[in-house]
Amino acid sequence: MTARFRASPDLMPRAAAVLREGGLVAFPTETVYGLGADARSDEAVAKIFRAKGRPRFNPLIAHVASLEAALRQGVFDGAALRLAEAFWPGPLTLVVPVAPTCDVGLLARAGLGSVGLRVPVHPVAQALLRAAGHPVAAPSANRSGRISPTEADHVLADLDGHVDLVIDGGRCAVGLESTIVSCLGPPALLRPGGVSRAAIEAVLGDRLAVPGHTGDAPVAPGMLTSHYAPRAAVRLDATEAGPDEAVLDFGGRLGPWKAVPAYRDLSPGGSDVEAAANLFAFLRALDRSGVRSIAVAPVPGIGLGEAVNDRLRRAAAPRA
Ligand code: TXA
Ligand code: MG
Repeated sequence: MTARFRASPDLMPRAAAVLREGGLVAFPTETVYGLGADARSDEAVAKIFRAKGRPRFNPLIAHVASLEAALRQGVFDGAALRLAEAFWPGPLTLVVPVAPTCDVGLLARAGLGSVGLRVPVHPVAQALLRAAGHPVAAPSANRSGRISPTEADHVLADLDGHVDLVIDGGRCAVGLESTIVSCLGPPALLRPGGVSRAAIEAVLGDRLAVPGHTGDAPVAPGMLTSHYAPRAAVRLDATEAGPDEAVLDFGGRLGPWKAVPAYRDLSPGGSDVEAAANLFAFLRALDRSGVRSIAVAPVPGIGLGEAVNDRLRRAAAPRA
């Protein structure tokens, strides 16, 4: 059975105990809700894959409370340290070589000699990680290939009965997953996300490398072609909508089609940050209207728009 509780300081020791006993705890982060397990235990991590129905074991992100804790898990070169200091705590994941003191298990690392590390800034995630005192492996708390959850209700819609505890911390502010940068060679962008490419390149003083050219395969996230998929078909770069289509707008461009069965505007004022925050919740809402197709207005690829477009392309990809 899945217990659901509002986040509170009293809850943290109990949540930490669930993790220590090998259970699953879904918790809010600033990006999306995570499905957490004790990263040290292959048995606990295996439950994540079972709950998500993941078709294969890709490496999971290990969440820790601080840079200091991360330094026990991974080896940080100059560039990795600069990025960690600039963006942690926050929506950035760094892939680095494992440190001799690393206790993230083999299953969470998918047997690799590297580890993906993230220090979330969300106060509930911070409180949970501090109470736990060990790295917590956590992919997004949704069934594999489905839309990532940005509210506790979304988690329960997908995973009720498959997770021991859901901590309700309200809506996630960023709304899509962390940016993943590999620091195994010249820093390379594995997945666009909550920190923009431009912000990262400004800190590095250099362009991000293209993955695959730095020997850091396997390439990024659930890199299945179809991912983040609603039930409805998704039609990108729409300039008009059919009478039976739902509309996912940006900047009011599809305003004339407001009368369609369901309509949401990612950001009426054209903000990339607001669009990222609304993306997954709006896809879910439009999908619930029961339409067969969702027409999506073009979203400029600037700032977090790169990550928004990445997720939209996956949502539109032919289903596996
Ligand atoms: O925002 C987020 O990052 C969310 C929240 C819950 O923190 N988490 C998330 O985790 O999206 P997950 O497990 O779905 O992301 C896993 C991805 C892998 O598919 C892979 O691309 C990358 O992280 N990754 C992790 N460890 C890696 C490694 N050692 N080498 C290469 N990629 C790695
Ligand atoms: Mg995911």
